[in-house]
Amino acid sequence: MADDSQFYTGLVAEAYALLASAPPDPAPYERFARRGNGPALELACGDGKPMLDLIEAGLEVDGLDSSADMLDRCQVAATRRRLGNVNLHLGDMADFDLGRTYRSVYVAGASITLLPDDDSIGAALACTARHLGEGGRAMVPFWIPPADADVGRVIEAEVNDDPGTMLRCTMVEIERDEATRNHASLLRYERVIAGDVTEAVERWWNVHWLTVDDAVALAAHAGFAEVQARSLGGEPAPLDATLFTLRLAR
Ligand SMILES: C[S@@+](CC[C@H](N)C(=O)[O-])C[C@H]1O[C@@H](n2cnc3c(N)ncnc32)[C@H](O)[C@@H]1O
Repeated sequence: MADDSQFYTGLVAEAYALLASAPPDPAPYERFARRGNGPALELACGDGKPMLDLIEAGLEVDGLDSSADMLDRCQVAATRRRLGNVNLHLGDMADFDLGRTYRSVYVAGASITLLPDDDSIGAALACTARHLGEGGRAMVPFWIPPADADVGRVIEAEVNDDPGTMLRCTMVEIERDEATRNHASLLRYERVIAGDVTEAVERWWNVHWLTVDDAVALAAHAGFAEVQARSLGGEPAPLDATLFTLRLAR
């Protein structure tokens, strides 16, 4: 498993949902899983957004993530929402075998670009294909991070059930390599109680981006019969798109 998959542990897992700029809109994933008309799998489900919304809407969805801390938080959230025990799998999206197939597999957001290189993204697409039955479909978003990221940007918020405790994330440094298509952000996470920093960790958050052409080629090689790259509005994605979704069918 790539080391990067352990970014979301400890203080970072605790801060993730609180500091997330925009939680994923469940609507497109719900429509996608509903159309599949059978069990769905969310890869990199993290602490449950949007998977728990889909389960609440009556869909059968399993989750897979490489962070035990994120999965623990997901089950706690499910219990709080009275959704019972969720089928959660601890594993690497580039190397998993759940011993069954699904009608739909999706990633909510571009978490596949957290894998370190083309080979591991190709392996994740091949695992996805193997977990789809005949006629099954996958939906996998990609993004290319902007080069002019905001070094020094701070995001902070008060912990919901602990007034006076703030969690804070600061963008410390960016390293970007256009040749290898790697964009790394050094992030500093802090717990601040009554103005004092009581805990801090610094971690590199690494994105390996693909162009539309790269992603389509990897998906075709991974064993999908149908491969389309679409823009947010659903039309075919231009080759220079910085946000696009692969729609894949076995
Ligand atoms: C940006 S979070 C997204 C979580 C959730 N989908 C959401 O939007 O709230 C990325 C998730 O990807 C997971 N992840 C990173 N690398 C992974 C890997 N190789 N295999 C499985 N999950 C991975 C992390 O543990 C984390 O929970």
